[in-house]
Amino acid sequence: MKEVSFDKKYFIETYGCQMNESDTERISGQLEELGYVPADILDDADVVILNTCSIRQNAEEKVYGKIGEVKKLKGKKPGVLLGIAGCMAQENKGKLIERMPVIDFVIGPYHIHDLKDIVSRRGAEGSHVVMTTQMNPNRVNDYSELHSVRKSRIFAWVPIMQGCNKFCTYCIVPYVRGRETSRTIDDICREIEKLAREGYKEINLLGQNVNSYGLDFHDGTDFGSLIHAIDKIDGIKRVRYMTSHPKDMTFGMVDAMAASPKVVRHMHLPVQHGANEILRRMNRGYTIERFKELLKYVREKMPGITVTTDLITGFPGETEDMHEETLTLLKEMKFDSAYTFIYSPRRGTPAARMTNQVSDAVCHRRLQEIMNVENEISLSLNKEMEGKVYTVIAEGETKQNPDNWFGRTSGNKMVIFPKTGSLSVGDILKVRVDTAQTWILKGTIVE
Ligand code: 5AD
Ligand code: SF4
Repeated sequence: MKEVSFDKKYFIETYGCQMNESDTERISGQLEELGYVPADILDDADVVILNTCSIRQNAEEKVYGKIGEVKKLKGKKPGVLLGIAGCMAQENKGKLIERMPVIDFVIGPYHIHDLKDIVSRRGAEGSHVVMTTQMNPNRVNDYSELHSVRKSRIFAWVPIMQGCNKFCTYCIVPYVRGRETSRTIDDICREIEKLAREGYKEINLLGQNVNSYGLDFHDGTDFGSLIHAIDKIDGIKRVRYMTSHPKDMTFGMVDAMAASPKVVRHMHLPVQHGANEILRRMNRGYTIERFKELLKYVREKMPGITVTTDLITGFPGETEDMHEETLTLLKEMKFDSAYTFIYSPRRGTPAARMTNQVSDAVCHRRLQEIMNVENEISLSLNKEMEGKVYTVIAEGETKQNPDNWFGRTSGNKMVIFPKTGSLSVGDILKVRVDTAQTWILKGTIVE
């Protein structure tokens, strides 16, 4: 007989970056405090929240598609609440409801603490609540103390700051997430100590630009000071962090990371483009020469470190020669992987007003060329790992085959290996890499 549940259920779909993943855990926490339980599928939900992303047009289009699905669900099941959270909520505010009255509430990233109130008291269908004021800097610590339902028992996101002050000319983030506001070192360490007591092994420090962490305190605090403080916390084995910024990362910060055995040997360092002229027009604040000098220092201090990057192709005014400079940079820098995006004009950003936009066909061809070059490099770097043994934290069985497990190296490379003996999530293993592919490695547990 089918089990009948009278619990109210929630369904959250998350788009975009890790900050949204982390916010979704906080949103789940708020709903569970109200007695909601997770729904396995959209159709079972009483509350649906889409935690959205505005970084590129295609991210927004996926959300519009999902809103259509929820509209159908509401036709069959009146009373279902639909909330839009995240960056599209913050950017479009009440306009979203004007355009799509099927939405019941719009809640910006800094209003998660208001969610219980909206859903429990004011959330009657059609009441159309909009809450999108910016982060109040005095509340950044309260925000992170909101109850969170974490997906993993081993890995935890830890936001260390909100917002971004960089205003890269293509990017919408500073307009929607507001100015940089850091949490205090004490607050962050308290959260990590608690995670360590609960058995978490790996934390991931989140910020749009972690290298400007603490600068808003104006007291000499920086990312290096945070790393020193976290390094002393027992129980945590790995400290990841993202995203780094080539302009704000100092040699001192690199030294602090290199001195900490817990800080992983992986850095995500977006270069965005290989041509100085484009970097200047992107307002990135560094040249390719400075980028190379920084990366050289990083690699000297942390030998064997995995370095990944982001690239944008088709930025306004990008010529064939400039595109070639990106290909040359890739060959020279040998990133372990590169996330490459076609430039997407964002309303209100300076780049969207630039006249010399690049055609879609050219963007797609350049994207393919970048990926071809990078895939070859990724594969050859992975091949160099064959026969070597790495420390891997076991994450669980693979979807395809329960006899195969997977985990990650400190450098964030995914390794798949046959299960031997009794394995538990979070076990720290030594795994030999046997065969390397572009995206994954296959190996054997040796210890
Ligand atoms: N178009 C394409 N890619 C973008 N990114 C940010 N804004 C845009 C945009 N308008 C990319 C950058 C950034 C990553 C998170 O998304 O490469 O590092
Ligand atoms: Fe956007 Fe630039 Fe800030 Fe990154 S550093 S979030 S790309 S403005």
